[in-house]
Amino acid sequence: MYGNPTCLFPRHLMDLMPILWFFVLLSVDVTKQDRSDDMWDALTLRYRQWVKLPRTSHEAERQGYTRQNDICKTNSVSKYHGFLYKQQDDTKALPIYDLNGWIAGIQAMIPGNMNGFNSMNESIPLPHIDVMPPIMIGDIVDGIQMYTVTAYFKHPKLICNPIARIGITLGKGLYIQMGPDPVTMYQQIAMHAKDLSPIWKPGSCIPSMGLHYFRNLSKDLPCEKIYPVFLMYDTEGKLGAFGWSFQGKPMDVSSSKISWFRMTPQTYAFTFDTRVLPTCMFHEEFRIFGIHIWLQPHDSPKMTCPLVIQEPPTGSPVHKPSTINYTNGPKDPVITSRPVDDTNAAQSVSRLSSSMILISVATVTLLQFVTFQANLLS
Ligand SMILES: *[C@@H]1O[C@H](CO)[C@@H](O)[C@H](O)[C@H]1NC(C)=O
Ligand SMILES: *[C@@H]1O[C@H](CO)[C@@H](O)[C@H](O)[C@H]1NC(C)=O
Ligand SMILES: *[C@@H]1O[C@H](CO)[C@@H](O)[C@H](O)[C@H]1NC(C)=O
Repeated sequence: MYGNPTCLFPRHLMDLMPILWFFVLLSVDVTKQDRSDDMWDALTLRYRQWVKLPRTSHEAERQGYTRQNDICKTNSVSKYHGFLYKQQDDTKALPIYDLNGWIAGIQAMIPGNMNGFNSMNESIPLPHIDVMPPIMIGDIVDGIQMYTVTAYFKHPKLICNPIARIGITLGKGLYIQMGPDPVTMYQQIAMHAKDLSPIWKPGSCIPSMGLHYFRNLSKDLPCEKIYPVFLMYDTEGKLGAFGWSFQGKPMDVSSSKISWFRMTPQTYAFTFDTRVLPTCMFHEEFRIFGIHIWLQPHDSPKMTCPLVIQEPPTGSPVHKPSTINYTNGPKDPVITSRPVDDTNAAQSVSRLSSSMILISVATVTLLQFVTFQANLLS
């Protein structure tokens, strides 16, 4: 009787087991096993069209990108870690891959032959020393001194040493290179808006882009100090995208699929709260150009910038108070039906149904077992 435990189960119950396991497996959420903790979902860019960065160096090679360096820790003029890939003469978006060939960062190059304006409306050569770093001196291409900005999607130490573990944040992130050695010279960007230093000032919220933050932007900021990095956070306050923005008007001769966004004083209102811009930005020749890089999918409901529902005076404790005024954007904010709540509701429904399946399976098993015990005892 105690020899073979399977003999304890009657035949009809054994036959049922595969079906029970099928239901148990169905209710296990396998989607949780993806690389989402490790890797950003989107990594897309847009200007005129959406462009997704190749996820691996192999995919990049298939798409016609060519590798620019052979050693992971470069020590040429332009110092960065990882393998930089370039598609034809596109200097706007150069993906960087780690030692294992996974997407790990992005670099942009801007030409050093541009002029702009300082706080006194005087003409100055660009880029200005006050924004170096994060702008760094790059290579000379076709006789023009290029400058670079580089961002990594995980801790820079992991790029050339994927098994590094000690003293660093693992998983996806955003790190801006701030010197020749990215392992020690970087700016780690807050994953959540609530952890941002107050030096980051909120600007407009733009549907599909999120709420913009600009570093130290105020009426008193000298124009030569306009920071080349800006950040975008979703309705839950999570980092959703970032961008480069530079003063100047680059010649664009490349055959690149992607164009820079370009702004003039007339179009600032698209991204900036024009009430806080320094007057030097309103010089009629002043130009801003740059690029947006999405970390989260741009069509995610969390990136829609819903109209903030103002607190009722009695304020029930369930609702979080709205601290940010989203109404200063260029367009009327889209009125949506609180997508965050909808998602949560949908999630709890699916969670409820999996729990129901689990409970049913458990009940059936228990009933079968009790019946079997009763049969044994009788
Ligand atoms: C921020 O901008 C002000 C001018 O508005 C300037 O005096 C200050 O040095 C800047 N701070 C940083 C950290 O750049
Ligand atoms: C610079 O030009 C802008 C726009 O023309 C003007 O509003 C501002 O007063 C000028 N600043 C100086 C310091 O001349
Ligand atoms: C939000 O902006 C509107 C329009 O500018 C203004 O009337 C309102 O007082 C602002 N609310 C807060 C909380 O700042």
